[in-house]
Amino acid sequence: MKNSNSNDASHVFHFFLNREYVSIANAKGIYLYDDKGNRYIDASGGPILCSLGHGLDEMAKVLGAQAKKLSYVHRVDFTNPPLEKAAQKLCKVSNYTMDKVFFVSGGTEAVEIGVKIARKYHLDNNKPSKTCVISRWQSYHGSTAGALAWSGSTGRRSDFFPYLNGSHHIPPAYCYRCWFNKSPETCDLDCANALENEIMCLGPDNVSVFLAEPVSGMSLCGVVPAKGYFERIREICNKHDVLLMFDEVMTGMGRTGKMFAYEHFNVVPDILALGKGLGGGYFPIGAVAVPDYIHKKIADNSGMFGAGHSWGGNPLGCAVVSKTIDYLYEHDLVERCDKMGKYLDHKLEDLKNHPLVGNIRGMGLMRGVEFVEDKKTRKTLDPKYAFSARVAAECMKHGMFIEYSGGCDRGQSGDMIMFGPPFIINEAQIDEAVEILSQALDKDLLSDKSNFLTF
Ligand SMILES: Cc1ncc(COP(=O)(O)O)c(C=O)c1O
Repeated sequence: MKNSNSNDASHVFHFFLNREYVSIANAKGIYLYDDKGNRYIDASGGPILCSLGHGLDEMAKVLGAQAKKLSYVHRVDFTNPPLEKAAQKLCKVSNYTMDKVFFVSGGTEAVEIGVKIARKYHLDNNKPSKTCVISRWQSYHGSTAGALAWSGSTGRRSDFFPYLNGSHHIPPAYCYRCWFNKSPETCDLDCANALENEIMCLGPDNVSVFLAEPVSGMSLCGVVPAKGYFERIREICNKHDVLLMFDEVMTGMGRTGKMFAYEHFNVVPDILALGKGLGGGYFPIGAVAVPDYIHKKIADNSGMFGAGHSWGGNPLGCAVVSKTIDYLYEHDLVERCDKMGKYLDHKLEDLKNHPLVGNIRGMGLMRGVEFVEDKKTRKTLDPKYAFSARVAAECMKHGMFIEYSGGCDRGQSGDMIMFGPPFIINEAQIDEAVEILSQALDKDLLSDKSNFLTF
């Protein structure tokens, strides 16, 4: 049923089909401006994507110059200078932990290609039965049938369930709602050990890769695993010859205060998927990076990897990647992200006493807030309130866009929002953003009876 706000004049097939959308006409720094001149703080950088800030002349120039020189050539038939340069720079920022890069057009494609690289590695290693992908509940890895099947976000999976085949999920590493009823003090990393159980049940000879976000994206909004979790995961993967793939589509390129989130955990993945911040917010691009031994196995055996998409490795996107990396370094933005993230965390502390704020978590400029009905029992709010969607809508009224999400309690309920602003945000802007959230929470949103669609 359409609501009274529906915008019938538009020919756009929107996400919310009956909502009147604000039209953003231009953007600068951390601000979005609508076509009526209203200003909004972009507190989530879109979907935790715009890392450098909006409206940078340097990025526009790079795109314009590259478009004039060479806008497209197919990666199957040719290489090109921006592609070579971007791959070299990306490996360099990993301190050559990663040695080869496969560029794609976004995060979902990166995840799909990463899983296919794992498959190809095992084929060329004479282990063709290793096909299963294990991932975690309450994760998100992308929206195509493959990436959504591996995702564990119940809400995002539900409509497309019939197409989601061959997925195996273990519990999330989510201390606030531990599936094993442990606390970090009594925990023996049961959530990591669950991987070994799953591998044993499927048969180690059948398992190809374990896929995980090192810090959870929107489906758990910034959950950081318990100490030692990824070390245990790495041990289990090594023991059973299962590749470890990190989905750093959201966390990569500085977002957690280090260039790659794996640097926080003393664990190096076999396959690294990147997207979002890889293009700084200026071009749709993703990548899969692998260490030398993965590439060599394929190069020395079949010598071909027959996967990919028409736009992969295009010069426009690759020119943007190189400029993004340069910009991050020239402006010390990764360090700044760490510093501003700590400041944001400190400011969010002020909200801890709010009766509905259950948990605040995250790393760098990726900070989630989870809301609850009862702080003591951690009971979630009834989904009928669509509480986090209401919080976000209220923030918009006060001049701030913020991403919201739900389903953290086993996919059925739970409310969260996540801050993920551009790294250039300063203390005063953080103060303002947190103040806007605080004002939104001070409103009695639970008694608001207006109809709200959420997901
Ligand atoms: C962790 C993670 N992986 C993969 C994706 C999919 O990326 P994209 O939407 O660019 O295809 C997302 C998007 O939100 C994500 O957060």
